[in-house]
Amino acid sequence: APLETLLNLDEIEAEATKRIPKKGWAYYYSASDDMITKSFNNTVYRDILLRPRVFVDCTQCDLSTTLLGHKVGLPIYISPAAMARLAHPDGELGIARAAAKFGALQLVSNNSSMTPEEIAAEAKPGQMFGWQLYVQNRRERSEEMLRRIHKMRDRYKTIVLTLDAPVPGKREIDEKSNFDKGLVVEPGVKGGTEKRPGGGGVGQQLFFGTASDLTWQTTLPWLAKHTDLPIVLKGVHTYEDAYLASKYAPQVKAIILSNHGGRALDTASPPVHVLLEIRKYCPEVFDKIEVWVDGGIRRGTDVVKALCLGAKAVGIGRAALFGLGAGGEAGVERTLEILEAETATCMRLLGVKNIQELGPRFINTRRVERD
Ligand code: FNR
Repeated sequence: APLETLLNLDEIEAEATKRIPKKGWAYYYSASDDMITKSFNNTVYRDILLRPRVFVDCTQCDLSTTLLGHKVGLPIYISPAAMARLAHPDGELGIARAAAKFGALQLVSNNSSMTPEEIAAEAKPGQMFGWQLYVQNRRERSEEMLRRIHKMRDRYKTIVLTLDAPVPGKREIDEKSNFDKGLVVEPGVKGGTEKRPGGGGVGQQLFFGTASDLTWQTTLPWLAKHTDLPIVLKGVHTYEDAYLASKYAPQVKAIILSNHGGRALDTASPPVHVLLEIRKYCPEVFDKIEVWVDGGIRRGTDVVKALCLGAKAVGIGRAALFGLGAGGEAGVERTLEILEAETATCMRLLGVKNIQELGPRFINTRRVERD
């Protein structure tokens, strides 16, 4: 179907499902165990109700904001997701070209299917990337990657350290589609030099070589020796860890409340609950570090609700990959265009002119706070 006839992210996903080869689709769609967290991510925003104010001039609406002190066009960023070329040959570069049109931040996966140099090669002035790191057992490999990223520090402004996948989740849809085969697309970075065991799904194969021994005490000091870029900690699930992370400011500048799109620990809470916990037990975290969230963002109203709860930005993982699958670079552009327009419409109907005005007074969270 022509992209302009696809009106929402569900329709784009349906189109991508028709086009993406089965194995790539299974890798993207899959989540752990019974996929309860994935489905909860997708539905939890529906239980937050909006409180629009009327009689407010909403002729103008500005979606720009800052992340880590840099100006971005949208409070929506591209989450790091491996292997974009399983969706479309445009790959991560196609996502970068689309993101550039919106001034959107793109976080590039450690396991991307193109190199970070290729992905950032056509960057527009001011376009911002982050590099997501899976620390490798052979630390020198990660140190070498950090050196490569530093050479592009005009574009790569942060290192995103993912913490919630010290072992791969059990993603059965991915495993089923991939019993006998190896990787179809090699990651751009780890390269073919490492011999992987066969089977276990794309996710398990990509995990090979990734460290399981990261800790607060050892990993942040190690990282401080090898990079002076600000660190974003990805995969925080509790207010306790959010609070701990805030103690590591200014090395740590942001955290991402994320359950890895339901692909790590199934039945872990969606980030909305963690935002509510932080608001209740340690709201000072919001002043010390930026709090970003991802998981299950499908609508502009989801974006706005997360921001009203204190998130500085929201990430899209599968939505960007499915956009790519539906139409390459143009499909990602369509995805961002829809989310941008929905977010602006939501804000204007709320009586809000810019991102800074959003806050808890625009939402009613009673239905998610029952417990
Ligand atoms: C991911 N995610 C992820 N996260 C990360 O830190 N490094 C990675 O390489 C990947 N790879 C990856 C691949 C695929 C196919 C998916 C779907 C996800 C997790 C990602 O950054 C993000 O947390 C979730 O995708 C957010 O949920 P939604 O937007 O997919 O619902």
